Amino acid sequence: MDQDLWIAVDRYLADNLISSDHRMEEALEANACAGLPAIDVAPSHGKLLHLLARVQGARRILEVGTLGGYSTIWLARALPSDGQLVTLELDPKHAAVAQANIHRAGLSSLVDIRVGPALDSLAKLHDERPAPFDFIFLDADKPNNPVYLDWALKLARPGTVIIADNVIREGEIINDRSDDARVIGTRTFLERLGSHPQLDATAIQTVSTKGYDGFAMAVVKAEA
Ligand SMILES: C[S@@+](CC[C@H](N)C(=O)[O-])C[C@H]1O[C@@H](n2cnc3c(N)ncnc32)[C@H](O)[C@@H]1O
Repeated sequence: MDQDLWIAVDRYLADNLISSDHRMEEALEANACAGLPAIDVAPSHGKLLHLLARVQGARRILEVGTLGGYSTIWLARALPSDGQLVTLELDPKHAAVAQANIHRAGLSSLVDIRVGPALDSLAKLHDERPAPFDFIFLDADKPNNPVYLDWALKLARPGTVIIADNVIREGEIINDRSDDARVIGTRTFLERLGSHPQLDATAIQTVSTKGYDGFAMAVVKAEA
């Protein structure tokens, strides 16, 4: 495996397919200046999320795991002017950096950042009886992904797209003896995704500037 090659190919793809955008670069620089970990999605994956949300015609997006708002900006840019994106973040410092990045990107009117443990925020959100979300992106603490999936289904409608990041974990995902809570959570998540009667799912392995990983994608089926 050749990380240098993956990085070079990702740069080539970004140069050719992802128009240079100083707001995106500014957001990543602001994250680095604030000491946030560089665990945002790769640019090519951010653009993929953006395109998938557009293909979906998403008007309402839910994101679990904001960090500095890099993926949030990609997703919010797929929304119409009356759309809404709710993003959930545990760490107030991450949320503050994200708020500033989203403001600079001119997207504050579309994005609602909620600070606190996502499990609490999801319960509160559900109590508000919101209109269903069209597109849901799970990218927070991986051990909780099976529970986030349960909440996602409560907040979804038939046709909602659910994406989860980091489901391959350098192949560790096939290690059924792993004691890593992220691997265990992801394995449970994938098993639930595959066996749930309301979901049609797949997962893709990826290599990128962020290494060897992958994402899962599911669509909520129409009620039988
Ligand atoms: C992988 S980063 C998100 C990256 C972001 N989606 C992007 O691509 O730009 C995961 C984020 O989830 C947050 N997080 C971790 N545990 C959480 C929890 N229980 N509730 C909400 N957010 C959590 C972390 O603080 C971190 O900012």
